[in-house]
Amino acid sequence: MCGIIGCTGVKCAAKTLYRGLEDLEYRGYDSAGIAVLDCGGIITVKRKGRVAALLPAIEELGGTTGIGHTRWATHGRPSDANAHPHTAGAFSVVHNGIIENYAELKKELADEGCTFFSQTDSEVVVHLLNKYYRGDLKEAVLSTVRRLRGAFALCILCKDYSGFVAVKYCNPIIVGTGGGALFAASDMPALCGLAENVAVMQDGQIAFAAEGKITFCDFSGEAASLTFSTLPVSARPARLCGFPHYMIKEINEIPAAIKATASAFTSENCAEKLARIQKKRGGFTDVVVCGCGTAFHSALAAAYCGEELLKIPVRAETAGEFRYRKSSAGAGTLFIAVSQSGETADTVEAARAAKRLGACVIAVTNVAYSAITGVADVVIPVRAGVEICVAATKSYCGQIVALALTFASLCQSSSALKSMLKELKTLGAACSAAITDCRVEDVARACASSSGVYFIGRGMDYPVALEGSLKLKEVSYVPGEGYPAGELKHGTIALIDGGTLTVAIITDKTLGEKTASAVEQICSRGGRAAVVCFKGCAPLSLKERAEFFIEVPACSACLSPAVSVIPLQLIAYRTAVILGRDPDKPRNLAKSVTVE
Ligand code: AGP
Repeated sequence: MCGIIGCTGVKCAAKTLYRGLEDLEYRGYDSAGIAVLDCGGIITVKRKGRVAALLPAIEELGGTTGIGHTRWATHGRPSDANAHPHTAGAFSVVHNGIIENYAELKKELADEGCTFFSQTDSEVVVHLLNKYYRGDLKEAVLSTVRRLRGAFALCILCKDYSGFVAVKYCNPIIVGTGGGALFAASDMPALCGLAENVAVMQDGQIAFAAEGKITFCDFSGEAASLTFSTLPVSARPARLCGFPHYMIKEINEIPAAIKATASAFTSENCAEKLARIQKKRGGFTDVVVCGCGTAFHSALAAAYCGEELLKIPVRAETAGEFRYRKSSAGAGTLFIAVSQSGETADTVEAARAAKRLGACVIAVTNVAYSAITGVADVVIPVRAGVEICVAATKSYCGQIVALALTFASLCQSSSALKSMLKELKTLGAACSAAITDCRVEDVARACASSSGVYFIGRGMDYPVALEGSLKLKEVSYVPGEGYPAGELKHGTIALIDGGTLTVAIITDKTLGEKTASAVEQICSRGGRAAVVCFKGCAPLSLKERAEFFIEVPACSACLSPAVSVIPLQLIAYRTAVILGRDPDKPRNLAKSVTVE
């Protein structure tokens, strides 16, 4: 989603904002822009494309106060005109979110004589501010936010105000102070090196930042307060450190993510917290595990493992479906929301919906201060570290670990949790071996020249097949599907020909024999096949039948996706590179989707 930033009291606003925007670029890269207060007026620079496109134009900009934006287009195609900031009259605005009632507001404002220069929903905000401005900035901001429906994080400049205003409603914004300057940004890493102390704004709050001081009020105008704390070291923005892309760097960080997630589970007493809530609730009748995209795939894998451990119904659902469905979830339900960012609108709203139904809500997230943590009864940390590549890799493996530990704790067998924690001590080494030993280049070349790539698996390997397919599609744009191995012959096999490649995942010996039959059926129809399997799991015949054969170290079923996914992530990465795509910033995507 879009990234926004504001600053005041710095030496050179444009340079400070530019630096922050570089760290926010993973949130969207359709266009970028900066507005600064200089010589009593507002100067705006905005360009279609990446943040770097701004560089030549900002060299000459002066001013110590400004706002910046990096855009993931929702309303209006990527263009200079649709880029933020939107400036009109006394105001300039950057916006992250969606103004749902923008069409009616736009008509009203146009009828009153406002001229619109963009197709965005956001531009109504700047015109509303001008409409309500009679010299009282606070009144204008309050009147404006009360007219808006939807989700909005805003940074606002007014030519008569020496600082900036930040507004938070349903989209994240963090304010910071440091070295006499004041800041606001969509996430903490963008404030690193700028702010020393930070505070996470709450929904319905407005911050007025000027002359070294930030004051807060709510949408009714009442004064509000926020507690500042030192910017956490964990929020340090990631750097490439010699790797060509964040995607491969983050795959290499999987062992560390697994280790840190397992140790946070213990050090933050998660098993005890889960036992307490389980007791308080008198046990659970069923479990729903929910997420979007990759987080849904880890939810699905966890549901397989959870049902086996808990022996009660455990199902996975995509958050976008759950939030609008008439669900039978109730007071006996445990609802587990899985989200790397903790800000995905569908997941946060699904968790709120579950809460309204009386369910107990657990959040499994990589971002400690995210919106989902405010909804949850218990937070289970993923400690994958900042993930920059739009394609999730290390956070997926962290989620698999956090969810497996959650279910092992809830099943109330101390031996299940103990043996999982013991296994986790060596899982990192298995992942490291998979990362260094897997030879994926030939498979990646085959993917790059395929008309379609199909990933198949049974049991725990099916969610991994879905994840392998998503990863390949999102970074290389090669089409394909993830499928339960047994389902292929019920329709999709019609697509198999010599131009297609099927990747079979096998981490269970018994199920492996069944998946092997599917591979036979594919090869008999001229399709090419690759097998990714745990050592010793695939039937011998497969080694001869499949064109490509990749083995990784074996581990227990619940944790298996954290290892078996690695070759698939590597295949997706190499395919993207072979095809000349940017794996870190795939087209049309953004890292965290904070709108519907
Ligand atoms: C993963 O590679 C994708 N970029 C995407 O599916 C992502 O997992 C999804 O948008 C959910 O994000 P979250 O984990 O931050 O909620």
